Amino acid sequence: MGRKLVAGNWKMNGTNADLKEIEALGIAWAAPRVDIVICPPATLLSRMAFSLGGQPIRVGGQDCHAKESGAHTGDISAEMLKDAGARYVILGHSERRADHGESDDMVRAKAEAAHKTGLTAIICLGESLAQREASDTLEVVGGQLAASLPDGATAANTVVAYEPIWAIGTGKVPSLEQIAEVHGALRAGLKERFGEEAEGIRLLYGGSVKPDNAAEIFGVENVDGALVGGASLKSTDFSPIISALESSL
Ligand code: PGA
Repeated sequence: MGRKLVAGNWKMNGTNADLKEIEALGIAWAAPRVDIVICPPATLLSRMAFSLGGQPIRVGGQDCHAKESGAHTGDISAEMLKDAGARYVILGHSERRADHGESDDMVRAKAEAAHKTGLTAIICLGESLAQREASDTLEVVGGQLAASLPDGATAANTVVAYEPIWAIGTGKVPSLEQIAEVHGALRAGLKERFGEEAEGIRLLYGGSVKPDNAAEIFGVENVDGALVGGASLKSTDFSPIISALESSL
């Protein structure tokens, strides 16, 4: 099992003035016992990576194109992210699946591009409220897992984030039993496909993770960390979540 991981997704938030949050995190977490990643908007990647210098906190992109280069106005390739200092990239976030019509096939192609470049892909999946209420959750996330992960996924190059769409940015969180059920099913699905390697593929929970609920979520079996949106924007919110993950070790 790799180190536990907490990743912050800044989404479409943050300008140069917010780099102070990263400086504060860098000071607070000079020698963390868990992996820490921040995924800022692409405009800040390079400066953030530079300001973190040799510190252990890593940066990541929020999306990449499946192609290496070419006529794709507004898009960014995995190679460009890497060149800007990224080590990770979030792929298939539900906001991209909804806003940009990203399918499982597209997410898998992007993950292949990320892997080829040496980036670790954080592949997101999760059910809508309607799917949850229709008791389709396990079928939906199982299908997303099968179709969004490339055959070359390993513990080193792939992280899976379970993010129920209805829990993102809403303050609503599934029960610990519901999280355990989905994470258990995801682990089983990974084992069936990748064998022993599946033990090391980290499974993050995401959706309204906050300082006051992080510890109980990190106590759930098969939860190897969190993907955090809103609470990653301020170091004073993000740090207690990192502390909670360290305390769970
Ligand atoms: P949230 O977002 O923590 O603000 O709910 C999580 C995510 O979308 O990754």
